[in-house]
Amino acid sequence: MPHQAHQLALAKADQAREAHAVRRGDMRPAYHFTAPYGWLNDPNGLIQHQGVYHLFYQHNPYATHWAQMHWGHAVSRDLLAWTHLPVALAPSEPYDCDTRGGCYSGSAIMAGDALTLLYTGCTHKNGLEEQTQNLAFSTDGIHFTKYPQNPVIPKPPKGGSEQFRDPKVWQWGQSYYAVLGNSMDARGCVLLYRSDDLRAWAYCGVLLHAQPGQGWMWECPDFFPLGNRWMLTVSAMGVQGNRNLWFVGDFDNQTGCFTPLQQGFLDVGDDFYAPQSFLDEHNRRIMIGWADHKSQREGVPPDAATASHGFCGHLCLPRVVTLAKGDTPRFAPIPEVTAYRINPLHGALPEVPAQPVLLGQWNTTAVEALLLLDFQHSSAKQVTLAWQHDPSHATTLVYDRAAGMLRLDRNQTDECVSGVVEHAVGAPETLALHIFFDRNSLELFIQDGVCVLSANVFPKENALQMRLSAQGGQGPRAVWDLWEIKPCTPRQNET
Ligand code: FRU
Repeated sequence: MPHQAHQLALAKADQAREAHAVRRGDMRPAYHFTAPYGWLNDPNGLIQHQGVYHLFYQHNPYATHWAQMHWGHAVSRDLLAWTHLPVALAPSEPYDCDTRGGCYSGSAIMAGDALTLLYTGCTHKNGLEEQTQNLAFSTDGIHFTKYPQNPVIPKPPKGGSEQFRDPKVWQWGQSYYAVLGNSMDARGCVLLYRSDDLRAWAYCGVLLHAQPGQGWMWECPDFFPLGNRWMLTVSAMGVQGNRNLWFVGDFDNQTGCFTPLQQGFLDVGDDFYAPQSFLDEHNRRIMIGWADHKSQREGVPPDAATASHGFCGHLCLPRVVTLAKGDTPRFAPIPEVTAYRINPLHGALPEVPAQPVLLGQWNTTAVEALLLLDFQHSSAKQVTLAWQHDPSHATTLVYDRAAGMLRLDRNQTDECVSGVVEHAVGAPETLALHIFFDRNSLELFIQDGVCVLSANVFPKENALQMRLSAQGGQGPRAVWDLWEIKPCTPRQNET
């Protein structure tokens, strides 16, 4: 019986997680989400219901590497302190049971009193991937039953490749809509579907096709109203540069036609992928991404730094997305994080000197910093912010004012990460940086969230010193506020 097979698979998964209870917690971030044990990738099924935020995620509860995708599940009242719940979906059926596949990404919606998940089942048949779209329901928000008539979308439309996944569903009036990632003619595309009951789906057409250079397949599409426009986001496979694309434009839901007016990147770092958003009960559009590990040194397995600590992968800090003038998005860290600030430090310098000034030091890496640089009376060519992890390891952020570039350099950081990430910011009179450090995670919100740069780092020491210096002329005026962020989620399963 299908129902029984799923229950057995779930029980096995939960037992595996408990059996592998995390031995040491000192590689865990303090305020970024990680799985209690095992591997994590995309956030799935984000929804708030009766005040409670639900987060599901791509999860291997058996090991710290990607395989046999399950849906992990956690709940929170503030998007920071999470309680882990039993695994929600496990591979168990002919359409989703595969160690090289499983229950792939998808989304959640309330339909009546059922928390409903629409997800991709991925298996392999005759050497080809088979990806279908499937439903699961829960009335208690914890235990999920797969729909006996799955799959509800058994195959891609004519012309679509077998890479057909990651449904994102929403309700509009009496109808449900879903976008799906796919490719046609070796170019990524997003498909639009419509349904009256979430069970029978009609294909409406291609919402958007990748332009040359924008990827051969688009994964994890998301599509939602933002301000007076609509925003489409996709994660592009097979592109050289940035893989997180956004498009802002107009959507006619009568014709299913989307006309993009602007486009850009959701994050200018290397370690942000497969984000999903949702509208919370305060009407905020909140986006959560997976801190992917693309910037790791070639050949280094993704779990190299954290496997012995029982996990691999974390999620980025949730971001509130709004639409600014000119139809471009702004990203703000969720304000809930301010409730976890402790030990504030405030400082200012009329002129940043050439000799590095110590702004703060901590016996933790969980630190938030607001730094404002005012170049009105400055002739400096360069400003350097250095995070020293131990005497020989540091991560540096250089603002090369002459070139108008921000350059994050992790070549002196610990093993597993290498490389430089650059982003052009020009030469504005003031440069505002909102910085979140948290063990393996570094996120920079630049100029009030005009863009965000996410980068993974793996300092061996859970300690930080922060220094500021200016080179090549009179330094800028600097003002800063620093906080330590206390751990949000009680450390579970740790000894
Ligand atoms: C994106 C992705 C999705 C897929 C999932 C599998 O990271 O490849 O397209 O559903 O991961 O884990």
